[in-house]
Amino acid sequence: MALFTAFGAGKVVLLGEHAVVYGRPAIAGPLTLGVTARAVPSARCQLEVPAGLSTTGRELLGRAFEQAAKACGRPKVRVRLEAHLPVSMGLGSSAALAVACARVLLAASGRAPETPSVVALAREMEEVFHRTPSGVDHTCSAMGTLIYYSKRPAARAGIAERLVCPKPLKLLVALAGKRRPTGETVAQFRERLKRWPGRYGRLLQEVGRLAREGKQAILRGDLEALGNAMTVNHGLLVALGLSSVSIDSLVHRLLGRGALGAKLTGAGGEGGAVIGLFLEPEPVVARLSREGVVCFASQLAGPLAL
Ligand code: MEV
Repeated sequence: MALFTAFGAGKVVLLGEHAVVYGRPAIAGPLTLGVTARAVPSARCQLEVPAGLSTTGRELLGRAFEQAAKACGRPKVRVRLEAHLPVSMGLGSSAALAVACARVLLAASGRAPETPSVVALAREMEEVFHRTPSGVDHTCSAMGTLIYYSKRPAARAGIAERLVCPKPLKLLVALAGKRRPTGETVAQFRERLKRWPGRYGRLLQEVGRLAREGKQAILRGDLEALGNAMTVNHGLLVALGLSSVSIDSLVHRLLGRGALGAKLTGAGGEGGAVIGLFLEPEPVVARLSREGVVCFASQLAGPLAL
C-alpha cells in the first residue's frame, strides 16, 4: 500500500513558448492528465524506473531523481510512477513527473509539500531533463491553474500570476507525431538566435506582446481575441523554424473545423502537440478521432458546466 501518493499535472502553453526562455512572458494551463507518484517504505530512497525507457532516458531520470532525493535528505521510500498523458509530446510530461516526485519526496521527508517548495524541488529535476528550462512547465503543473509566467534569463526562479477567465476556456489537444527532446530543440534554436539575433529577437519580442495581449483577452473573456493571438503566435513559431508539415497541417485542420485559434504547443520541432481553442471541442474530438487523429478535450480555466 502507498505511503504517500501525489499527482503532477501535464500542461499546454497557450502563448509564448521559446520566447519565455529569453525573458518574455508566456501563458500556460494545466491538463487533467498527468503523472502520479506513489511512495512506499523502503530500506533506501529509490525510484522504480518505468519500463520501456531508452538508456539515455533511464540515465536522465535516475540523475534527476537523485538530485531531488538528495535535496530532501533521501527519505527511505521507493517511488513508483504512473503516467496518464502522452510522453515527450510537448505536454509537460517531465514537469508533471518532477512535480509528482517532488510532492511525495517532500511529504516523505516530513516537509509540507507547499507550492513554493514543490516548484523549487521540481526545478532541480527539470534542470537535469532540459538544461535551461524557463520553469513555466513545472510552475504551471505545481500551481494547477492557468498562469501568466515570466523569468529573467539570469534568474533561476520565475514569477507566476494566476489568471481567472470569466468564460470556459476549452481546448482540443491533438498529437502530431514524434519529436526530438525539448532540450535539443531549445539548444538548436539558441544557435539560430545567436546567428541572427536582430531578426529572431524582433520575432521573440512580438511573441511576448501576444502573450501580454492574450492575458488581457483571457481576463475579459474575449475568446476570439485569444484565439487570434494563438494563431498569430503559431505563424511566428513557423517563421522561427519551430514547426513542421505535420504540425502545420493539423493547425489548418483545426482552424477548418471552426477553432477560434490554433497553434503548436511546447517546444515544437518535427512533431509534438497542437492545440485548438473551441467553444465546444467535444464534437470535434469525436469527428477527428473517427478520422484517426489522436486527440482529447481539456478545459483550462473558467466556470465548469454543471
Ligand atoms: C515549454 O513547454 C517549452 C519551451 O518554452 C521551453 C521552456 O520554456 O523551458 C520551448
